[in-house]
Amino acid sequence: MDARRIACLDAMGIPTWTRRADRQLPGAPEPLHAVQAARVASTQAEIPVAALDWDALADTVSGCLRCPLHAGRTRTVFGIGSHQADWLIVGEAPGAEEDRRGEPFVGRAGRLLDGMLAALGYARDGVYIANVVKCRPPENRDPRPDEAQACAPYLDRQIALLEPRIILAVGRVAAQRLLGTDSPVGRLRGKVHRYGAGGIPLVVTWHPAYLLRRPEAKAETWRDLVLAASAARQGATEAVTA
Ligand code: URA
Repeated sequence: MDARRIACLDAMGIPTWTRRADRQLPGAPEPLHAVQAARVASTQAEIPVAALDWDALADTVSGCLRCPLHAGRTRTVFGIGSHQADWLIVGEAPGAEEDRRGEPFVGRAGRLLDGMLAALGYARDGVYIANVVKCRPPENRDPRPDEAQACAPYLDRQIALLEPRIILAVGRVAAQRLLGTDSPVGRLRGKVHRYGAGGIPLVVTWHPAYLLRRPEAKAETWRDLVLAASAARQGATEAVTA
């Protein structure tokens, strides 16, 4: 029976059987659970990404084959944090540690990001953190524009589901992807941009990995964070008075 039919029957609560020849032999390695695989396949085939909820989106990302990066990943790195968060932090791509653990920003740059958030009064689980691409690029190179484009519907859907009060784009790849520009970070930081049809405030700052190399840029990043906090507060005030 094909994967789509299994998924349809499963969705209707109808049990499915496999032919004797398809059954697992004693001692053979565990196959990927057929119904789980079918669900991922049918989600990808039938439902537009823009209509998925959090769970279906995460399922779809975990089985994604849209660009060549899937071939080198240990696991996808979907994103982490509160679905009620006001702040969305967007980085570029998982590195080696993130690829191993399936969580964004857990290496050295991540610890610096945690420190920046703590200075603002936020714990890691009080914000949402995601990347432009969900799979690790080889040799930690920057994601290519075609890879960022292939992954774009996933990040766009995460933003639509979260409806953050403020997006903080850390580094060039996130800033250029979200603003559709090729301007450098130095020209984009220091002002409040708008993302998407809803005009969500977006502030650009230096990537934490850059700050590890150039600690003197931390003062500029702090000013960007204060600007972002004030844009988030202003959005909250507008929402209350509207
Ligand atoms: N750098 C990023 O942009 N994202 C991560 O998840 C880790 C490092």
